[in-house]
Amino acid sequence: MNLTKEEERMLNGKEGYAAKKSMEILLALGNIFEAERLIKIGSVQVAGVSYHNLGDAGLEFLNELAKDGEVKVLTTLNPAGMDLKDWKKLGIDEEFARKQNLVIDAFKKMGIIISCTCTPYLIGNLPRYGEHIAWSESSAVTFANSVIGAKTNREGGPSALAAAFVGKTPCYGLHLDHNRMPDIHVHVAAKLRKFSDWGALGYCVGKKAENKIPYITGIDDVNLDELKSFCASVVTYGAKPLFYMSGITPGSNNYRAPKRKVTIGYKEIKEAYKNINDDFRTVDLVCIGCPHCSINEIAEIAGLLKNREISPKTEFWVACSRLVKQIADGRGYTRIIEKAGGKFACDTCMAVAPLKGKFRSVATTSAKGCYYSRQNDMMTKMGSLEECVEAAVKGKWS
Ligand code: F3S
Repeated sequence: MNLTKEEERMLNGKEGYAAKKSMEILLALGNIFEAERLIKIGSVQVAGVSYHNLGDAGLEFLNELAKDGEVKVLTTLNPAGMDLKDWKKLGIDEEFARKQNLVIDAFKKMGIIISCTCTPYLIGNLPRYGEHIAWSESSAVTFANSVIGAKTNREGGPSALAAAFVGKTPCYGLHLDHNRMPDIHVHVAAKLRKFSDWGALGYCVGKKAENKIPYITGIDDVNLDELKSFCASVVTYGAKPLFYMSGITPGSNNYRAPKRKVTIGYKEIKEAYKNINDDFRTVDLVCIGCPHCSINEIAEIAGLLKNREISPKTEFWVACSRLVKQIADGRGYTRIIEKAGGKFACDTCMAVAPLKGKFRSVATTSAKGCYYSRQNDMMTKMGSLEECVEAAVKGKWS
């Protein structure tokens, strides 16, 4: 890779340990993917925040970098392993909380915003169309590339952090326009009727696309929360973190539908539910907010839970960023949800909190949430918000 004088200085350790280490990471990555140079980025989203995933080795790595590392661009954080304030109410043990707080301290020292959300675009890290960024967190990467039209590869935690310390990322993959062309046409021949259908559609498109970039036709209307859910699902189940939705997402008018075509109809959507849903009745946990809830979703939850009571056998979690929760506080939604027996899980989520062994079954609106819950040895049900709230109230899936 061709390096500028400033980049050479960093690589030679003249700007300190974190910058040197970061340059080594970016150089290795650039060489693997045959990047010619580094390019400036507008922002970074760092994943790999939960102590559950990092362990002591990860914490040590972060502490080393935090000694002299300071981020050069706007940098936000993915969810941590617990609610940073109310971790006790989520059943987190003291030792885990102590270690998780040390992780957060390291990120704070680096100048990173402790946003702890996978929807940074809802709370102020909003790139512009065409901007190069270096984000990790697959759902956010897909949203940034497809819905916003920014340009990012699917970074890992360390490469995103390295990009933040250097303010640049290697120019390869989805940073290059010729790699952003759609290569499979997916026609949706089914009308999507409920929110979780977007997760089911993401499942179908992801499976059919097999690491390709889908050009999707047949969708007339979709709102931001539905797109957010689709982004999380499509990349989890197999597509590249970029898609075009004809007439809806930016850039879709610049391309024609590719020749290779697949169609998704009611049969495929039904099949997706069949594959995602396990056979059980008693629901231990209902978790809404994968990706993290917007204020609209919380308003809807509050509307459904008003004057109702969650079953004592079931936990009901609303996962969101602390900032969105603050808006919910001001609008009175928090009071309604908590009065019904629900809990807010700010700063964390159902995939990165240490939930293994705590719940046997979960109901959610999210296909991605189901994928990761299975990895936590939980049985899963995906359904509409109404179905999930009913499950929470009755303690069982009907
Ligand atoms: Fe976000 Fe966690 Fe889902 S990071 S997309 S809530 S698995």
